[in-house]
Amino acid sequence: MIHFDEYWAKAGETARYLGEHDMSPVDVVIQCGSGMAALAEHVIPDSQSLRLEQLPHFPYSVVKGHGNEAVVGKVGELKVLFFTGRIHLYEGFDALTVGFPAAVAKSAGAKVFIATSAAGGLNQHYHVGDLMIHNSFINFQGDNPLLHLEVSDYKQRFIDPKPPYDPYASRALSSYVTQVEVDVRQGVYIGVKGPMFETMAELAMLRALGGDAVGMSSIPEIIMCHFLKLPVVGATIVSNECFREELVTHDKVLEIGKKSVPALASGIRAFLEDRYWWHKLERRR
Ligand code: HPA
Repeated sequence: MIHFDEYWAKAGETARYLGEHDMSPVDVVIQCGSGMAALAEHVIPDSQSLRLEQLPHFPYSVVKGHGNEAVVGKVGELKVLFFTGRIHLYEGFDALTVGFPAAVAKSAGAKVFIATSAAGGLNQHYHVGDLMIHNSFINFQGDNPLLHLEVSDYKQRFIDPKPPYDPYASRALSSYVTQVEVDVRQGVYIGVKGPMFETMAELAMLRALGGDAVGMSSIPEIIMCHFLKLPVVGATIVSNECFREELVTHDKVLEIGKKSVPALASGIRAFLEDRYWWHKLERRR
């Protein structure tokens, strides 16, 4: 357990360190999923970066295929910060630690957090390479950042379950990614802890529970965004079709993540250049 004030102060120190390197304040934070670290260089060729382990308090991953940098640059008028990798519950971290990048994003002034990831398609209509924009999530991870957070007013913990996804940003990202010939879906992300991929029996259960795609990430960050009232978009590349393939491997997930980068990056660039969703989002605040 850590008190929110202490957690928030740590996020502030991380954001201040970014600021000392001219990498904060920012407008948008994008977190890269498995194999997708190169999104940062595709979206912002003129950038500056720091290694995540240089950032005070910032948790970083040693899992193959996850980037390890904070990268900042401008797209149009927006200053965009990428975290090219993330940590996972399956590495032994708790959900509060996994959610820390969202707190840093909020502290660095971000108005929206975009959590990208790779996941297995449970919905039979989904194909490898599709992008699923989250319209809700099911937390099947057995952990929640708020379990580890002490708050002065206990009511703060019982946050309303309305999904935190920002409708304007989600819709805009969806339409720009559609324009670069990626099939975009809207669906439910069901999060598991991993690291083992699911048995057929588990997959059948996860589908029956209402999941459209199953992954091992994102939910802690999304809950932290919700807690901090930071609008969020969940964007998941389908890396495998759970009921169609015999074997899913981490390498295959990384390969599809990598392949998705050029198209996804041009969709994201066009999205960031569009001011409409941004004004809507700002006006709603
Ligand atoms: N299951 C869980 N996590 C995943 C999968 C999967 O099939 N593919 C990519 N991440």
